[in-house]
Amino acid sequence: MKPQKHMVLTTFMLPAGYHKDSWRMEGSRAEELGNLDFVADLTAMAEAAKLDAVFFGDIVHANTVMRGDIKMNGFYEPMTVLAALAARTKNIGLIGTMSTSFSEPYNLARQLCGLDHMSNGRAGWNIVTSSDGFSNYGVEDVPDPAVRYRRATEFVDVVQRLWDSWSDDAIIVDRASGEYVDRSKLKAIRHKGEFFEVEGPINMPRSPQGRPVLVQAGSSGPGMDLGSSVADGIYTAQPFKEPSIEFYTKFKNMVAEKGRNPDDVKIIPGILPILGDTEKEAQDLANELASYVHLGNGRKQVGADLKMDLSELEFDEAIPVAWFSDDPRMGSRYQIYRKKSVDMGMTLRELIVDLARSTGHQWMAGTPSQVADRMVDWFESKACDGFNLNAPFNPGGFKLICDKLVPELQDRGYFRSEYEGTTLRDNLGLSRPTA
Ligand SMILES: Cc1cc2nc3c(=O)[nH]c(=O)nc-3n(C[C@H](O)[C@H](O)[C@H](O)COP(=O)(O)O)c2cc1C
Repeated sequence: MKPQKHMVLTTFMLPAGYHKDSWRMEGSRAEELGNLDFVADLTAMAEAAKLDAVFFGDIVHANTVMRGDIKMNGFYEPMTVLAALAARTKNIGLIGTMSTSFSEPYNLARQLCGLDHMSNGRAGWNIVTSSDGFSNYGVEDVPDPAVRYRRATEFVDVVQRLWDSWSDDAIIVDRASGEYVDRSKLKAIRHKGEFFEVEGPINMPRSPQGRPVLVQAGSSGPGMDLGSSVADGIYTAQPFKEPSIEFYTKFKNMVAEKGRNPDDVKIIPGILPILGDTEKEAQDLANELASYVHLGNGRKQVGADLKMDLSELEFDEAIPVAWFSDDPRMGSRYQIYRKKSVDMGMTLRELIVDLARSTGHQWMAGTPSQVADRMVDWFESKACDGFNLNAPFNPGGFKLICDKLVPELQDRGYFRSEYEGTTLRDNLGLSRPTA
């Protein structure tokens, strides 16, 4: 029997390859990182596979690069690269990360409204509050998460009101009267809040989607509160099925409690598929990828992620239980690594490779059919509404996903073969908000 709904599939666009140090592979195009042609080729592959969107993360510091991690490098500033990709694509959604901690709502509202116009309705914003990079903006101490999320909540509210500050029918282009805009259809927003004062209205017409799509990935209490209030899509790291079902249920309930339709908020965990024509071929590829991981840099990266000094620990030892903190503020990924280290007994070497592979997301080495089985099982079990596909290496690993895994899901009726509409909202099945 064919499923009634198909999955949402986006891809986390990290041209260096999601698997750390996979840029060392033959054929990686590593010299072209930061260039448009390379990322445009990857985006064209995603569009040919009919993915919902390419999704660009962003950080505003060079700390990961300084620790030898080139994967999340910041070479692609989301708004500039998405604007360029808008000109080279037709259907695929263009989602970019922008922090609410380093900008003003008026700037960001204009940038996304502009991208939505330029792409004919394909813009999306990944709302983050950022936990690093503040020293690049004259702020010495990272603000408390509660303060960051209060600012984010006010920020998003102002952005949405600016997007709504022009009615859809404000542009009249009346050659006879000489009036281009019906000025009665523009409204000031007169916002005065804890963090921002914004008079409004915005200075550009309402965009094709009315409001660009909002996605978010907060996993703390205030993070989930913001996401369930405003987001159309939720990204999350869920390596195990049962906790993902719990997260899904909890999140959809939170959405319903806010008076929103739970179907309008898509839960999208990441998955990193390592594909081969046989199980052995996939496993060999996983081993090959693991062989590229720079263990010395990995020790520094895991230490930084877990906020521990690991310099004296042998690679074949596990991190002592006592080194882990019980503080829930350490975040959900910290808890995943605690579980892998303490409950599953991974050594430091295994932990470094695991973190290099998937950064806390689910990963799987197998044939396209085996990986599709797993994805369908999660989807049918209400562990997710779809997946954010993490390409283990580029361009080859992403090509395998687009050429082998996506067609497998299409054949089974779990993914589209043609775009349903022209905007990202259309393709996600979301209605267009009225102003
Ligand atoms: C798939 C995924 C992508 C993310 N991308 C970014 C990013 O590009 N930039 C960023 O600063 N944070 C990013 N985050 C972190 C989240 O925004 C969030 O801070 C994190 O999940 C912790 O939640 P909390 O802020 O509620 O504690 C991402 C998280 C996930 C799961």
